[in-house]
Amino acid sequence: MSTADIGLIGLAVMGSNLALNIAEKGHTIAVTNRTASKIDDFIANAGDLADRIIGKADLVEFIQTIKRPRSIIIMVKAGQPVDDMIEQLLPHLDKGDAIIECGNSLFTDTQRRFDYLTPKGIGYLGVGVSGGEEGARHGPSIMVGGSKEQWHNAEAVLTAIAAKFNGESCCAYLGEGGAGHFVKTIHNGIEYADMQMIAEVYGVMRDGLGMSPSECAKVFKKWNEGPLNSYLIEITGHVLDYTDDKTGKPLVDLILDKAGQKGTGRWSAIAAQQMGVPATAIEGAVAARSVSSVKDERVAAEKVYGKPSAGSADVTLEDLEKALLAGKIVAYAQGFAVLQKASEENGWALPLATIAKIWRAGCIIRSRFLDQMSAAYAKGGNQNLLMVPDFVAVMQDSHTALRKVVAAGALGEFPLVCLSASLSYFDSYRQARGTANLIQGQRDFFGAHGFEMLDREGEQHGVWPSTLDN
Ligand code: 6PG
Repeated sequence: MSTADIGLIGLAVMGSNLALNIAEKGHTIAVTNRTASKIDDFIANAGDLADRIIGKADLVEFIQTIKRPRSIIIMVKAGQPVDDMIEQLLPHLDKGDAIIECGNSLFTDTQRRFDYLTPKGIGYLGVGVSGGEEGARHGPSIMVGGSKEQWHNAEAVLTAIAAKFNGESCCAYLGEGGAGHFVKTIHNGIEYADMQMIAEVYGVMRDGLGMSPSECAKVFKKWNEGPLNSYLIEITGHVLDYTDDKTGKPLVDLILDKAGQKGTGRWSAIAAQQMGVPATAIEGAVAARSVSSVKDERVAAEKVYGKPSAGSADVTLEDLEKALLAGKIVAYAQGFAVLQKASEENGWALPLATIAKIWRAGCIIRSRFLDQMSAAYAKGGNQNLLMVPDFVAVMQDSHTALRKVVAAGALGEFPLVCLSASLSYFDSYRQARGTANLIQGQRDFFGAHGFEMLDREGEQHGVWPSTLDN
């Protein structure tokens, strides 16, 4: 009998937490998993919610348990396993049913799957889910893209399980095809930049101001009560404050300085480059993770160039707070500019104010700042965030601090990849007369590429010397 409101395949951490969240919101859910024993274990541990969970080891039986038109969430590893699962499901689905893929998939893969399934009458939703394990269980931010009709079939469930900000659900339909996964990718690009800038500021505290982890923790905890209030600032305070049981030392001092990455940050930077949108803060954050991973080379290079002079950086904690705020505005401005361009190129009509809204709770980059941003975008216009009046005021107040901090990093010889990239972008963006006139001259010299001139119409060329010394 078809009794389940929705189905879910894949009971790993994210899948099982989403399933419990769905059951808790009063929906009956059918679940299945490749390793069948996991299904029984999952239901056995579901407590009171077990009554609303139907486990089926057989895929066909699982499908038949779901009410039509069916909504089937798949939570399997991104890449080929998603395509394999689609092929397994396809022969047993009916027109109007939908596959809802909730992993961190590359948006072009999602678009391809959408294009493949749509003519067959099967809906495909590529859904970005942010908030980690805890979010999946108690309320993630949910970025939906794909088949609009089938979105409406799953809307009640997805809206109910999402995080709430002032009573509003942090789940929204954002556009066709790969729109949802694209937005999640840029969320992660911003997440990378946000985390990197926080780490850089910690670096100034540690190497430039000689602060201990617990002293840094106190500062981050205080900042979390001000304009920087956010999940990432909050967890930074906790990470810095944590003591290793075994040694009694601050845990952060014992963690190897090599950061992992699964690809979404890199995809953001690649997408930005492909569309010709400058996203230097995101690119810097991805590059910084890559540099972090070549620990042996860094150790060798420090022997060649000597230890950074560090010492006493000429900055205050207030400068650092403002620098972080300014850098953050630039990173978000870049991320939103990438979203805007992708929206035009793909015909998605991405709602920027809604995106900022559904990032206000549940997701990793949730912050007070996003409430301010969604309000600013809601007033209309999709201009660069650096031109939105509320943020113009913050930048005017904080860019000098960013400048001081970046200068301290340069003189103290410690890297501020992302903060300096943000400052350079800001300075380039606000400079009416740039230096590309010279680039144009050079291009014309060696390749007759032509240039426009300030005082005459049409394409021009220089009359360059034909013989050179080099
Ligand atoms: C989220 C996160 C999550 C991502 C981790 C790890 O929004 O919940 O973005 O989706 O998997 O942040 O990403 P990296 O391993 O690339 O740092």
